[in-house]
Amino acid sequence: MNNMFQPWKMGTLEIKNRLVRSATVEGLSMDDGAPRQRLIDITQEIARGGAGLIIAGTAYISHEGRGDKNTTGMDNDKLIEPLSRLCGAVHTAGGILAAQLLHCGSTLNPEILPEKKALYGPSAMIDPVCGHPVVELSKDHILRIVDDYANAARRAKQAGFRAVQIHAAHGYLINQFLSASRNRRKDAYGGSLEHRALLLHQVYEAVRGTVGRDFPIFIKMSGYDGFPGGVEPDEAARVAASLDAMGLDAIEVSAGTPEGAKKGGWDHIIPSPFDEGSLVKYALKIKAKVRCPVISVEGWRTPLKIAKALEQIDAVSMSRPFIREPGLANRWLGGDLTPAHCISCNKCLDLIMGSGLGCIFNNRGEDKANSLSRP
Ligand SMILES: Cc1cc2nc3c(=O)[nH]c(=O)nc-3n(C[C@H](O)[C@H](O)[C@H](O)COP(=O)(O)O)c2cc1C
Repeated sequence: MNNMFQPWKMGTLEIKNRLVRSATVEGLSMDDGAPRQRLIDITQEIARGGAGLIIAGTAYISHEGRGDKNTTGMDNDKLIEPLSRLCGAVHTAGGILAAQLLHCGSTLNPEILPEKKALYGPSAMIDPVCGHPVVELSKDHILRIVDDYANAARRAKQAGFRAVQIHAAHGYLINQFLSASRNRRKDAYGGSLEHRALLLHQVYEAVRGTVGRDFPIFIKMSGYDGFPGGVEPDEAARVAASLDAMGLDAIEVSAGTPEGAKKGGWDHIIPSPFDEGSLVKYALKIKAKVRCPVISVEGWRTPLKIAKALEQIDAVSMSRPFIREPGLANRWLGGDLTPAHCISCNKCLDLIMGSGLGCIFNNRGEDKANSLSRP
């Protein structure tokens, strides 16, 4: 069990243990994308609770790439100061905070459709999940998005985040470019896997050029999209290997997309009861092809199973367990090794659409929690 609390390195960054808080969007930022005090408090509590690395909830790189209301922004320099308060609170509490950068493409909360001029993606089609038309991105537009990623990463570094994660999973824009089912382009961004990965490679290079060699960059990717025709496990491993060769500092491996949920009943937020550790096979497939550390996300709840997985991978990440128990890492460190109390009921997802992130089993969901029936 001790391996959970062994330090490790992501690039130049020393991380005190192998328990990572995976990105968790909170619905607790203001209209302009600045974090509210409650978001700062919640994140600081997880830092105090001992998580080795905290990946902040996803932040949009441009207003066009915003996927949900009340999410954090990284799209303009005015946000650097408010974001620095979030970073300061976490680092004061002994934690390490990474930013997660996102352009949502056509995967979004339908409630924000009215603010969109258009939904963009690799190829023109009716989005198979939201049912709205998708406009094919022009080459100039793609290059602007690459620039937006680089500028957002610069702001993250200036605000005091200690690493940036590029969100390339869960059916968002970069994942759509990787997927043959969504990317039917005939230019350099489509066709073979190497071409479908061009956007991700360009984003990585632009971010690296901006933050420098010593600042850790990692990605979150789907090890399998969850349906035939989407990103397959072999393809995910090849993309991971190409980024590893370019100098990527770590890879967090998830699986599933909203399209996979629709076609194959498999989303990236797994329901309860779950088969703990069932996705580690995708992380292992990638681990076999790369030198950089690999983090496995999804469903981890039991110290014994986590410790076993850590014999083969570098770290595990968790989202929902830290919502219910911000002090989970320290509880386990202190010797109470009962599994995480989270039952994966997914009511936390309802709360981010309403009063903001919380768990209905403690007093974090506040008002909204009282109106939800318990599972
Ligand atoms: C409330 C909530 C918000 C989430 N927000 C994000 C996010 O901003 N970015 C992301 O990559 N994944 C997000 N996820 C997915 C989690 O990071 C994680 O991949 C998934 O919940 C499975 O891990 P778990 O079983 O430990 O919860 C979210 C999940 C939940 C429950």
